[in-house]
Amino acid sequence: MHVLRFSPPIVVAAIAGCSVVQATPISGPSPGPQSSAAQITFNTPIPWYNFDVPHGYTYCQASYPSASTYTAVPNAELELVQLVVRHGDRTPNAIIPHEDTTWTCDGVDEDTYLHIANPSAKNTTGSFKQVIEIPKWNGKFGFENQFYKGSCESGELTDKGKFQHFQLGSQLRSIYVDKLNFLPKKLYDSDIIHFRSTYVWRTKNSGESLIGNLYPGRSIESNVAIPLHTYPQSIETMHENPAACPKIKTNLAQMTASAQYQNFLKDQAPLMKRLQDIMGMHTSDYTTTWYVILDVLITRKCHGFKYPCNSSGQCATEDDVEQVIRNANFELAFKYRDSSISPEYTRLGLGSFLGTLKEQMQSFVAGNTGKLKLSLSTRPTTPRLPLSSVP
Ligand SMILES: *[C@@H]1O[C@H](CO)[C@@H](O)[C@H](O)[C@H]1NC(C)=O
Ligand SMILES: *[C@@H]1O[C@H](CO)[C@@H](O)[C@H](O)[C@H]1NC(C)=O
Repeated sequence: MHVLRFSPPIVVAAIAGCSVVQATPISGPSPGPQSSAAQITFNTPIPWYNFDVPHGYTYCQASYPSASTYTAVPNAELELVQLVVRHGDRTPNAIIPHEDTTWTCDGVDEDTYLHIANPSAKNTTGSFKQVIEIPKWNGKFGFENQFYKGSCESGELTDKGKFQHFQLGSQLRSIYVDKLNFLPKKLYDSDIIHFRSTYVWRTKNSGESLIGNLYPGRSIESNVAIPLHTYPQSIETMHENPAACPKIKTNLAQMTASAQYQNFLKDQAPLMKRLQDIMGMHTSDYTTTWYVILDVLITRKCHGFKYPCNSSGQCATEDDVEQVIRNANFELAFKYRDSSISPEYTRLGLGSFLGTLKEQMQSFVAGNTGKLKLSLSTRPTTPRLPLSSVP
């Protein structure tokens, strides 16, 4: 989102995502024609079970913003950027029996620095790099194939994911530093950036990687430490949080029980059974969500790894994976948009976070945010919540 100052002076917030721009006045009169170029494209209907991945987007790689296609809003000066991004490429959350994949997360360092809190001695005193060690005995001693190989925790940002955020940081630098002179070339004051992440490791690392290349080679004064703000997990607002808002569980149970969703599950049950037999997921825990199967398959797809096979030589196929993606997309669209309960669910699930962004805008307009120019929030799509079996 961009907060802009127009002449004549009014302030609007513009939401930019892909090529979609919508301007909404947050103070002063309507901006008039400036916002009429706005077009909303995200509400395209999704035909039942049969839709393609939207043009130009694949789950594995979103497109990057670019200085060459960035067009400034006429008669307006950029005042504040609020950037909300998802984490990059990650490892699977679900570990299947007989794992034969290898994931690497130790080829790129993030900036996990230790600073002394006392401002008079604020200099960096050392840096740490967290290293995941998959012990050599993994696969032996009764722990056979309990974890995949390599150097990653489950659900962690991979080296590929770090590079995605380096690239994003670099593209943002070309826009906000080089083209617009909006952000300074060298970061001299940490108050310019507000960085918030969920407590989830991959979202912290994504923001670190992004800022790491927005200000590459540490073009940051040596004593500038950028605070990484996180809320305690129990009151996190950047994703649906049933622990903080129990009504979310009721919403999910109602959505799952609906005739439309039950028809969908029934229709796709043979595929689910076949894939569970192939992957050795002999569990009834995840029969109301496609997200666990998706997690196993799409992470492999994004890395060109072969799909799982079972001991009878039956393997998941590319066609299976495409149908799983359709099913997961259906599930997601149903949950967030198409169910009669979606409006309440999204309000309860994400309204609080949007309220925080709105307050930040208002606080900025009122002159209460000091030197703030860039607010970065990094989040996962959802926590690990099957549609019905919510803890
Ligand atoms: C802290 O950093 C400043 C600026 O780089 C440097 O001049 C100073 O010597 C450093 N202090 C210590 C204790 O390392
Ligand atoms: C392998 O998967 C196929 C297809 O789901 C299934 O029919 C078969 O029983 C599975 N074999 C084993 C050993 O689980």
